[in-house]
Amino acid sequence: MSRRRPARACTAIAAVLAFAGAAGCTGPAPSASGAAPGAAAGAGTAAPAASGAAAAGLPDASLLAWMRESFVARGQAGLDRLDQDDTQRRCSMAAARGGLPPDEAESIRRDNQALLRIPTGPLAGSWTRGEAIAQNGVGRQFSDPPDVPSGGNCYACHRLSAQEIAFGTIGPSLHQYGRLRAGVPREILERETYGHIYDAQAYTACSLMPRFGARGILDDAQIRDLVALLLDPDSPVNRP
Ligand code: HEC
Repeated sequence: MSRRRPARACTAIAAVLAFAGAAGCTGPAPSASGAAPGAAAGAGTAAPAASGAAAAGLPDASLLAWMRESFVARGQAGLDRLDQDDTQRRCSMAAARGGLPPDEAESIRRDNQALLRIPTGPLAGSWTRGEAIAQNGVGRQFSDPPDVPSGGNCYACHRLSAQEIAFGTIGPSLHQYGRLRAGVPREILERETYGHIYDAQAYTACSLMPRFGARGILDDAQIRDLVALLLDPDSPVNRP
């Protein structure tokens, strides 16, 4: 638990980055629509100039230029983390403009669905290993050894097992996740769950959830263990 990292630790940075996707650095909860109209206001505390640009609805290029000048590369945390992919650029743009139009959200979601890499066959590993991965917040920061596998840090944003009382609320509660979906065919449920962990953007455009598989934060075996944590009837997630 001492290795857990609070998701809010990087709030100010993430607000300025507006989904630039710096690993291990995640931002404030989005609005229900998945956009983050608060991001521009949040940036004000860290960077008044950047806040002005965002408030004026300017493209985020000026914000990123500002970030590039302010950041230094350290260890594995290189400045390439400021390079946005197409989804991140579109989400930053939406944040700067104060909202994500539904058709743009659907387009982002569909583009990322096309990039999902979900293996065939059964997808659930071991929930005990999954629980350890969910608890583990180590990885991807400059001070972390680059050769040690990253954790998922899921509890930083989600409630999962009821026994664990230290959890964040940026994401919805996942307690009873499998039980509540008992009517969904297992194969579909495993695929959707694997996919959401692999790349949340394929389900919720501009989600604040890290793209664990797409970004290579977690490997296939780790994602399978998390699928088991969420779906196995014996997992603490699905017990009272
Ligand atoms: C930085 C915060 C954050 C972290 C860390 C995080 N999530 Fe999420 N997660 C979210 C948010 C926000 C949502 C809601 C938006 C969405 O659907 O993507 C979400 C949604 C989900 C959903 C979909 C829930 C539903 O009702 O459909 C699943 C499953 C999930 N997360 C699993 C995980 C797992 C497993 C981990 C750890 C490997 C994890 N999350 C780590 C923020 C986070």
